[in-house]
Amino acid sequence: MSPDRLRRFRSPRAAALAAPATAGTLPSNATDREPGAPEIPEVMRAVVFDAPGEATALRTTAVPTPAPVLSELLVRVVAAGVNPIDAKTRAGRGVSGAIEQFPSTLGYDFSGVVVHAPYETHPFPVGTEVFGMTPFPRSGGSYAQYAVVPTLSVARKPAALSHVEAAGVPLAALTAWGLVVETAHAHEGQRILIHGASGGVGHFAVQLAAYFGAHVSATCSTRNLSWLRELGASVVIDHTTTRFEDVVGDVDVVIDLVGNVHDDTGTRSLSVLRPGGLYIVAPTGSWPGYAHAASDAGVRATAYTVIPDGGTLATIGRLLDSGAVQVYVDRVFGLDDAAAAHAELEQGHTRGKIVLTVGEG
Ligand SMILES: NC(=O)c1ccc[n+]([C@@H]2O[C@H](COP(=O)([O-])OP(=O)(O)OC[C@H]3O[C@@H](n4cnc5c(N)ncnc54)[C@H](OP(=O)(O)O)[C@@H]3O)[C@@H](O)[C@H]2O)c1
Repeated sequence: MSPDRLRRFRSPRAAALAAPATAGTLPSNATDREPGAPEIPEVMRAVVFDAPGEATALRTTAVPTPAPVLSELLVRVVAAGVNPIDAKTRAGRGVSGAIEQFPSTLGYDFSGVVVHAPYETHPFPVGTEVFGMTPFPRSGGSYAQYAVVPTLSVARKPAALSHVEAAGVPLAALTAWGLVVETAHAHEGQRILIHGASGGVGHFAVQLAAYFGAHVSATCSTRNLSWLRELGASVVIDHTTTRFEDVVGDVDVVIDLVGNVHDDTGTRSLSVLRPGGLYIVAPTGSWPGYAHAASDAGVRATAYTVIPDGGTLATIGRLLDSGAVQVYVDRVFGLDDAAAAHAELEQGHTRGKIVLTVGEG
């Protein structure tokens, strides 16, 4: 890359705006834009927050368009997925410790179109429809018209999915894959219990576990019972009326997407595992003592944190294209309504995913 590409380019308008952590060189600079490449504005609309706070802390404003460096891509975001980690971070929890400066832009999931690639023969050249994750768990930034993304966290958007649907996939489906495939090693005859099965991660986890042949039990609330059966759960348990330990036992693996946040779900889960069974928790901060408790109960336990791997996302994309796995989008909000989207997410009853629409598809 030429030194020209690495130099900072700022118009007076852009310089007047507060620079987010991701701001850098603009490849849209008329002098180094490749022939035929789309025009990239120097400033863009983004959802920012100025300090940790309630959902109402989110506001839409103009910020400098971020600039890719070396192997990074610049993507025009069409839709951005909303995840619990976004809301936790906005509230001062989650990965808020990694925020380098305010105003800061949230958001890891996106679906959009490549507007700048590092070189012409790159696997995702300009114009490619892609979905993926912004640098996780560091900077975020998908609640914006443009996002800088690492090549390795991107895959081609499944052709069968709209951008809105695709934006609901990456973080939740990669987490489900990590839990079900890489950690539980789901297989024929294995008995898996999934808590929080109706949410973003859960609805993918149910489908993947069933796809790989496991016998799936799932906890959810009343309105989702028949839906989760359709997605592949053999046993569905209404957590609002029934204690799961009265229905299931001797399971090989518990995938816990609720943890001890609600109803001591984590602690109670240890009693339904077979001796030596495996407890896996995704809300990793919800129960710091899980490992000792599991050891005392004679079962194995581990936490899990998502890995934003584009290769795995491409595999998930093929399952989505074939119809073997589906994404369910519960609610769609405009970018300017990100605060309402967070308020909805924080109710804690999302079925599948919440997505923000950002630009034209
Ligand atoms: N470690 C990681 O890398 C990682 C990655 C992704 C997510 N997570 C964490 O995992 C958790 C789930 O994420 P998500 O995106 O799936 O959340 P989500 O989309 O908000 O879904 C949560 C689901 O849990 C259900 N639920 C609530 N209380 C329940 C209970 N007592 N028993 C069973 N189900 C219950 C809710 O529906 P009802 O209230 O209608 O039952 C809702 O469908 C979050 O804490 C998130 O931060 C961690």
